[in-house]
Amino acid sequence: MSTAIGTPNIALVKYWGKRDEELNLPTNSSISMTLDEKLTTKTSVLFTEEIDQDRLYINREEQDINGADIPEKSMFIKRALEYMRKKSGIKGHALIVSENNFPTSSGIASSASGGATLVFALSDALGLKMTRREMSIIARQISGSACRSVYGGIVEWKKGKKPDGSDSFARQVIKPSYWGDLRDVITIVDTSKKKISSSVGHHTTIATSTLYKNRPKHADAEVKIIKDAIKRKDFQAMAEIIMRDSNDMHATMLDTWPPIMYLNDNSRDIIYAIHELNEKKGRYVAAYTFDAGANAHIITTEDFINDVLDVLKGINSVKSTIQSGVGNGPKILKNESLIDLSKLSPI
Ligand code: PMV
Repeated sequence: MSTAIGTPNIALVKYWGKRDEELNLPTNSSISMTLDEKLTTKTSVLFTEEIDQDRLYINREEQDINGADIPEKSMFIKRALEYMRKKSGIKGHALIVSENNFPTSSGIASSASGGATLVFALSDALGLKMTRREMSIIARQISGSACRSVYGGIVEWKKGKKPDGSDSFARQVIKPSYWGDLRDVITIVDTSKKKISSSVGHHTTIATSTLYKNRPKHADAEVKIIKDAIKRKDFQAMAEIIMRDSNDMHATMLDTWPPIMYLNDNSRDIIYAIHELNEKKGRYVAAYTFDAGANAHIITTEDFINDVLDVLKGINSVKSTIQSGVGNGPKILKNESLIDLSKLSPI
């Protein structure tokens, strides 16, 4: 048995569109900041002969991972589990209990922290001693963005070229402590589940958007530029890429047929307010970015947190904010468990 804790990541240059939908191979490289432990996924895994099939609970709700017609995410989880179990030679069924301390499937990267944390817990429970690179490749196959949450700091996912995906994994490019006052103010305006899953979105945008054709090359170029900007701690260069890349990805979503709109009027209020703040300061002090949801991530530095919070206070639709620094990535929790061993169920 093992328990791991992990965190989401926020993409600064986004992954949107797959060249292989089965293996989650992206059309472009991406780069992200791993968040700290304000937002967490905890996952306990137990292998036992005492249950008759594999069981998965997310936020105490049992998910179907055994039926013939299970959702794609469950299928990907089952595939990772079976691969790792076979590699270890351990025979028992898996009891997996996973909990997020933040809303699931609302565009706050629950699948990223969920996938990475699960692979960490599985590797430890099965005694596999996998490298982070190996874990990143498996996490990628659960949810693309999960491959980046296997590391702390600033993380690059190189798209790779090989059809089998063996060169498509993430790596840490900048240590968590390097830019210690970098912050993400996660701004919650909507906690409902997204209407269009990211898997459907990835597919439909590639299939139907004409704007998308320009994106992969452009995003690859931006990854290189932003990486250098972060190394120089050049917030000006970094901020513009972050905002433009988010807008670019959401433009291809809007250009998808039928259109995909994760942003809403609340997100737009935030976009305008951040531009106004930057205008007032005469330089970029904050940058917004949105994943597949209406909730904003405002990237800023410690010095400007209060300015950002003041601006957000003026927006009615903002329900709450969470401040995150750069996180260290997943780890094993030695003395914690989410499994009740006597009932073989979530505690
Ligand atoms: O990992 P997925 O399939 O849920 O895709 C997530 C894609 C975005 O969050 C929108 C962007 C990213 O790079 O994280």
